[in-house]
Amino acid sequence: MVTGQRRVPSVPMLRRALLHVEGEIRWHEPLASHTSLQVGGLADVLVIPADVEDVVRVVRGARMSHIPLMVLGGTNVIIRDKGIRGIVMLLKQLTQIQEEPKQMVYAQAGVRLPRLMQFALSRKLSGMEWAAGIPGTVGGGVVMNAGTRLGEMRDVLQAVDFVTIHGKQKRIDASTLSFLYRKTLLPRGIVIGAWMQLTSAVQETIQSATKHYLQYRKATQPLTLPNAGSVFKNPTGDSAGRLIEAAGLKGLRIGDAEVSTKHANFIVNRGAATAEQVLLLVRKVRDRVARKFGVRLKLEWKVVGEK
Ligand code: EPU
Repeated sequence: MVTGQRRVPSVPMLRRALLHVEGEIRWHEPLASHTSLQVGGLADVLVIPADVEDVVRVVRGARMSHIPLMVLGGTNVIIRDKGIRGIVMLLKQLTQIQEEPKQMVYAQAGVRLPRLMQFALSRKLSGMEWAAGIPGTVGGGVVMNAGTRLGEMRDVLQAVDFVTIHGKQKRIDASTLSFLYRKTLLPRGIVIGAWMQLTSAVQETIQSATKHYLQYRKATQPLTLPNAGSVFKNPTGDSAGRLIEAAGLKGLRIGDAEVSTKHANFIVNRGAATAEQVLLLVRKVRDRVARKFGVRLKLEWKVVGEK
């Protein structure tokens, strides 16, 4: 949550907070369709800011009225079935991307990582190959320090453009940030863009690294079914997928939530799964692995919303 307290805002309060917003405003918006696992309840209101100035308007409006505000990336998050009180913001209109001098690339938070990779490839810039197959956005990628075995966001990130909880824009140098495994320690606020330092390379080299990696992911991960990426972080020196499979849990199902038969560290939505089913399955997997191997798996997903 970016701003606000845990209290239920009324519709008039929300209207007042969003009075000057120019982007799209959708009341009682089902959020399942905005997440890759396709589960979760309604947002009181979903706002799609038209531009950065609009993001500032939303932040200031929410802050002045003490309304909870959350930015939704949508790929590594589970929204509970009772949805989210307050304002949910989707940065999908922040899609500018440009090459700056000296192989620097600037991308706004709503740019999808696959598009950023295409852009880098078209400019013969290497450094983003690690993101092959990650469906998320630049903003989410910065917040999560997204990555794969090939690399992660911290390897290329030079600076982050940011809106503070007071609604002020600032640029944060990446050298002042701490990066953990799948988490960047940022002040409270909203990432609106990222500066990434890439390097010149031969197009075929970039392409073949990406292709090889995508093939590996397609072969080993259930990319054609709704999923939210890896469920658990890998414990040090081991792999969550290996442990879950060794505990005999592939294919375990609660309702339409299923431990993928292709990769045990994925949960897929077989059609009409609810967040409750998904989270029950998570708990069951965690308990069984703990009982069998004494390893307590830590969730990689972020779980939000009302129980
Ligand atoms: N394994 C099993 N059974 C399974 C799945 C995997 O035994 O069902 C074994 C594999 O045989 C392998 C090991 O576990 O020996 C590691 O598996 P894999 O190569 O698939 O990688 P991973 O550690 O499970 C990580 C990232 C993925 C990323 C892949 C490939 C984490 C938690 N996951 O998975 O990231 O795509 O490497 O680079 O770090 C994500 O974070 O959302 C994500 C998909």
